[in-house]
Amino acid sequence: MQKSDLRNLSLARREPAPAPLHVAIIMDGNGRWATARGLARVAGHRRGAASVRRAVEAALKLGVGTLTLYAFSSDNWQRPAPEVSALMRLFHDYLRKETAECAARGIRIAVIGRRDRLAPALRHEIEAAERATAHGRALVVRIAVDYSARDAILRAAARLKPAREATREEFSRQLASAIHSPACPDVDLLIRTGGEQRLSDFLLWESAYAELYFSPRMWPDFEAADLEAALDAFHSRQRRFGTVLEAAAG
Ligand code: FPP
Repeated sequence: MQKSDLRNLSLARREPAPAPLHVAIIMDGNGRWATARGLARVAGHRRGAASVRRAVEAALKLGVGTLTLYAFSSDNWQRPAPEVSALMRLFHDYLRKETAECAARGIRIAVIGRRDRLAPALRHEIEAAERATAHGRALVVRIAVDYSARDAILRAAARLKPAREATREEFSRQLASAIHSPACPDVDLLIRTGGEQRLSDFLLWESAYAELYFSPRMWPDFEAADLEAALDAFHSRQRRFGTVLEAAAG
């Protein structure tokens, strides 16, 4: 047998590479982080924006395929107006400052949720960021703004063709389109920081089989090592998707 045959044989035996993971994060704890330091809540959000940059960097290094970040829920409109304005400004500034570098590094930015209640200037920035990074293949970063999973499900359901039986795949496509998202796989790992243990209307359909990971760390303190720890925990779990492992099957 020739050397090249041996190489081909070993390539054929190799396991297929696992698909890059979809990690979603509920970035909670900005307000408490600030209050504990005698600062205004907005200071916590500012530090939270720095954590977003770190998390994107870490996700890229760790080979995550899609990172979805919960930045502003549809219920967050009920917060005091100055806090809402400060958050909108942070989203705007983040997109303006990060887009060029993301485009250069193959990071695709997508903002998911409703657009019709956002200020025209923010909408413009979102569209510019999405256009400039659309070719990105190294990592997809989806930022959820004015997002509600239940509203998105309602909108997607209304788009289904009444005469045809809906499939999960078709519904997932409608759901992605209802929230302006590129197609992406279901969530593999859902992380919530800040010590609370709930889903808060985030990616309810897409997280049907997600592994949940709750971190006591407040979001402004969340580091690359915390994301790595969450991924380690994920890799130590057995995902069964409702079936049984081969070894246990009788
Ligand atoms: C939840 O913490 C956090 C938010 C509602 C806002 C998240 C925003 C950021 C992380 C900053 C900017 C984001 C981007 C994408 C640039 P909370 O305020 O509810 O905290 P609390 O539970 O301690 O009050």
